[in-house]
Amino acid sequence: MNTSAASRASWSRGQLTAAIGIAVAVIGVVFAFNSAWYGHWYALFRLVHVSVAVFWVGGGLLLTVLGIKLERSDDPNEIVTLARWAAWTGERIFAPAGGIVFAMGIAMMINTDWGWGKFWVVVGLIGYAMTMVTGIAFLSPQARRIAELGESKGPTAPETLAAIRKIMLVARFDVAVLLVVVADMVTKPFS
Ligand code: HEM
Repeated sequence: MNTSAASRASWSRGQLTAAIGIAVAVIGVVFAFNSAWYGHWYALFRLVHVSVAVFWVGGGLLLTVLGIKLERSDDPNEIVTLARWAAWTGERIFAPAGGIVFAMGIAMMINTDWGWGKFWVVVGLIGYAMTMVTGIAFLSPQARRIAELGESKGPTAPETLAAIRKIMLVARFDVAVLLVVVADMVTKPFS
């Protein structure tokens, strides 16, 4: 009885969340197609590019701040839990988000005649390539290694905690690259 009441409550919360998301998306589309500054499709690509970039970079920054805080915590289980969530977020959320940001950036470029040689465009492309390579070559395999170490040696064993500290340091550089790309996109230097 209680279980079905709880599932009914959570279903209606899910519907409310979906309704909020749809309302924000509809407002965004209405704004984009009524922009006096940009062409309709360009405005839509720009909106998606910037919104998803905010989500991606903001999420990375939040994980960084929590990592710095938890590195000083007395309870190693807390950083192990954060590392687990960071690995999940990186693969399931940030990787596709990065793909959307990249695709929308390319879509905008195709809709302009700015050319691909401008400094800020080159920095954007290099920054995106750097974060993709870091993710594929280091962050993903290291996250899997941490999961294996957690199984074999224990989540709070010194080897596991050392591997977690290493991944968090590299992730910090990764977020720094993203912030440099944001500064580059917003200021468009030397262009
Ligand atoms: C590393 C990932 C990236 C992030 C975090 C990012 C972030 C941003 C942000 C915050 C803006 C808004 C700038 C403003 O309104 O002043 C922007 C605009 C833009 N970005 Fe990116 N970007 C990324 C990658 C790319 C790539 C790879 C391209 C394609 C070459 C690209 C093309 C553009 C274009 C064309 C604009 C619109 C410029 C304008 O209309 O003034 N971005 N980006």
